[in-house]
Amino acid sequence: MKIAILPGDGIGTEIIAEALKVLAALDLRFELEQAAVGGVAYEAHGHPLPEATLKLAQQADAVLFGAVGDWKYDTLERSLRPEQAILGLRQHLQLFANLRPAICYEQLTQASSLKPELVAGLDILIIRELTGDVYFGQPRGRRAAPDGAFAGADEAFDTMRYSRPEIERIAHVAFQAARKRGKRLTSVDKANVLETFQFWKDVVTEVHAQYPDVALTHMYVDNAAMQLVKAPKAFDVIVTGNMFGDILSDEAAMLTGSIGMLPSASLNAAGKGLYEPSHGSAPDIAGKGVANPLATILSAAMMLRYSLDQAAAADRIEAAVKAVLAQGLRTADICSAGTKPVGTKEMGDAVVANLKRQG
Ligand code: IPM
Ligand code: MG
Repeated sequence: MKIAILPGDGIGTEIIAEALKVLAALDLRFELEQAAVGGVAYEAHGHPLPEATLKLAQQADAVLFGAVGDWKYDTLERSLRPEQAILGLRQHLQLFANLRPAICYEQLTQASSLKPELVAGLDILIIRELTGDVYFGQPRGRRAAPDGAFAGADEAFDTMRYSRPEIERIAHVAFQAARKRGKRLTSVDKANVLETFQFWKDVVTEVHAQYPDVALTHMYVDNAAMQLVKAPKAFDVIVTGNMFGDILSDEAAMLTGSIGMLPSASLNAAGKGLYEPSHGSAPDIAGKGVANPLATILSAAMMLRYSLDQAAAADRIEAAVKAVLAQGLRTADICSAGTKPVGTKEMGDAVVANLKRQG
């Protein structure tokens, strides 16, 4: 099992180090190879996704990714910014299916900004299409407006587009995931305004014919944003496009109290995947040893389950994380007033200690 380790920027190095400790504590053998990605790769090699890093990611069975980005790169030309690394990996590896679970851990109901009764027991799965939509649609650019009320003025434009096979394949992933859970799928669109998302809705409806055991509902994205804070537990699996999924998955993550707890998987058709925490590089706390490593540790668990066929090891890690929470250990992001937070390393060590205690 060869794993490409790409820590990246900000807190990336610190949280990946804890996930590696946890992997090392399992009785499994991995071949780990590390490479530079994001801002650190730009500094060292002049590009956020160097050729060697991409090659390693392509050769490995799975990629464990930290985070990329820092405000100091905001003025760089777009193609050199750290974010291009993750976008490039998604595109080159065709990681079209992004799974973002939003689970509210029993001990953390108080950490949510919503009333505890709204989020207690929350367990939803957002499936975001990751390689199409306005993120990658061509053409895009800047020009003099060729027409319209402001013809001749400077303008910028992007293209929202989805092809039938792109929608079909993500719909299949979503229906199959729903089938293994509560058998309810909500497809989020903006069919009342956008041609792209009327097509999305039509194709998802067609694919539904193959999954009669799953209940499908369609919801406009603005309403979905509202329902997520009004009655989040009404959802089971949500499937949506790249941009709506970007927005709704942050919203859903925050319902659970801390984005620092949530892992994610980005999979291609062969089941190969990139695993990363749902949060970003948090440059404001980088190097301070206070970041929550649990999202990355749980991402490693997802990696074992989805790409490396080691479901039992994934279960063990998840149980160890729950045990640590039950013991009352909290990093600053999930700590309630009056209790003393633990640091990144202590949290990682505690997960390892619990793993060992399991036998
Ligand atoms: C995410 C992030 C990325 C995205 C950025 C870093 C390009 O926000 O993974 O959700 O927009 O997809
Ligand atoms: Mg995002």
